[in-house]
Amino acid sequence: MSTEKVIKRVTTKTLALLKKKGIKISALTAYDFITAKLLDEAGIDIILVGDSLANVFQGIETTLPVTMDEMIYHTKAVARAINRAMLVVDMPFMSYQLSPDEGFRNAGRIMKETSAGAVKLEGGLRVAETIKKVTDAGIPVMGHIGLTPQSIYQFGSYRERGKDEKEAKEILQDAKAVEEAGAYAIVIEKIPALLTKKISEQIKIPTIGIGAGVYCDGQILVTPDMLGLNVDFHPRFVRYYADQADVISNAVKKYIEDVKATNFPSAEESY
Ligand code: KIV
Repeated sequence: MSTEKVIKRVTTKTLALLKKKGIKISALTAYDFITAKLLDEAGIDIILVGDSLANVFQGIETTLPVTMDEMIYHTKAVARAINRAMLVVDMPFMSYQLSPDEGFRNAGRIMKETSAGAVKLEGGLRVAETIKKVTDAGIPVMGHIGLTPQSIYQFGSYRERGKDEKEAKEILQDAKAVEEAGAYAIVIEKIPALLTKKISEQIKIPTIGIGAGVYCDGQILVTPDMLGLNVDFHPRFVRYYADQADVISNAVKKYIEDVKATNFPSAEESY
């Protein structure tokens, strides 16, 4: 008898079906094996190896310095933990901006060297040609519009985008361009909820929001943020589902106390 394990993976088709049925899509980031295993076993639909690893793993202020090699290193660790979720990988700054060919080559490298199910890249109209080239080759692409952190020096701040009519119009055009280019889903970051509603009504692919209100087909957060680990970061769009900083801090203090008082290890913990 075959012992083949039947694993039901979340794919682009699953996400389209969830949207059709009106079932919201859940997404979180992971950068390491243990976290990815916990998220996957809890039933998350999408795990993103985000270039936000710059902020929460490397302690760098912007995502610009992250390299292809670093994204691939983290993705390999995360991929080993996942049985069900769709694994999406951020294409780092300057891995796709130079030309569609360069973007295609780097997207292909991510797919060949990791077990990713898709890549994500930032931008709308200006990256549409690249999205088309990558999706035409069979690589699923997730778009990312609104506040796109790789353009932070052009924006000048992390404030919400699309508040004035001109910018709102551009963001709607970006969403349409990303869909038309062949993306299977789109992350919408930090824009007014009513603009998100307009976008979600005018495009067919699933919209995944972060700071974009409730009118999305799904939501994504940076995992260390929602677990309360990123203690100096308190944007309005993050809901804190745990106070892990406190849990860790108290555990470490107790451990130090036990070591100093020779309470650890006990006889049972020794050989
Ligand atoms: O890098 C990241 O974690 C992201 C999410 C915030 C969507 O792009």
